[in-house]
Amino acid sequence: MQEEIINLLKKGNKLPKDAIDETDNLDINQYSAAIQELGKKETEHIKSSEISKNLNTTYIGKDLYVYSEVNSTNTVAKFLSMQNVKNGTVIISEKQTKGKGRSGKNWESPLGGVWMSIIFKPNVEQSKFPFITLATGVAVAKTLEHVGIEQPEIKWPNDILIDGKKVCGILTESVSKSNIIENVIIGVGIDVNLETSQFPQELQQITTTIKEELGKEYDENLLIKIFLEEFEKISKLFNHEEYEAILKEWRKRSYTIGKTVEVKKPFNTNFDAYVLGIDRDGALIVEKNDGTIEKVISGECIVKN
Ligand code: BTN
Repeated sequence: MQEEIINLLKKGNKLPKDAIDETDNLDINQYSAAIQELGKKETEHIKSSEISKNLNTTYIGKDLYVYSEVNSTNTVAKFLSMQNVKNGTVIISEKQTKGKGRSGKNWESPLGGVWMSIIFKPNVEQSKFPFITLATGVAVAKTLEHVGIEQPEIKWPNDILIDGKKVCGILTESVSKSNIIENVIIGVGIDVNLETSQFPQELQQITTTIKEELGKEYDENLLIKIFLEEFEKISKLFNHEEYEAILKEWRKRSYTIGKTVEVKKPFNTNFDAYVLGIDRDGALIVEKNDGTIEKVISGECIVKN
């Protein structure tokens, strides 16, 4: 991560190009101050002033850092989360050069998408972690509904689909102390003003973009503002431990319940199962072909019908 942060500072002329050897002596507070300063510089497409205009939140997105290019907003967010930034701070970048997807995959992040990470400090037990991802999925789905998409759906645990095609991915990473989650980095990538032809061949048939769905571009700043408001609303349910209310919203938009899936497991122990529902811990409840019921707490599943 240190190398990525150094590269970011070099790009923003905060460090001389040959500074790599000298950075060992740089104080972490100096890095942090420089990164924060860079994130307050004017950017071309995504404008923090536009997002903040009429932003109706009390803590989410009150502090915004917007970059023209970073490796990954999750990496920058992880770094800043260790520097005493406020709960609800948001990192956005117009492009990512090394966007991270789930399971170590790359995430295509060209100009035109919304690539952002929220630093969330929930101070709750590890067992509540799945609800953060589920809640974020609901916030994205509700944002798409505002934007005019008719029936966005959520594929467990956290892909947002339109007519079965992926339009958004969420990558939550946590920093915990013993059993308590201190910081969660919630990375959200939404394919907004892009065309699927910009993606690698293998993704073109299984993804979509807001531009393609609406038949026109949508203002990215407005979309971010709506999302931050939706995220704050649902984060308050989380903060008040109203997990059932989050699940209710999630179930309404579920793409996965009632489908046959292949549950992906480590060491080639994948299995097919029918999805019965999601339980009060946020785990998927599935019935295997032999009739046994299993709880899937984390992982991925491929929908087969
Ligand atoms: C997935 O594989 O579905 C998760 C994709 C998450 C992408 C977002 S874009 C903003 C944030 N920064 C990253 O590097 N990844 C997440």
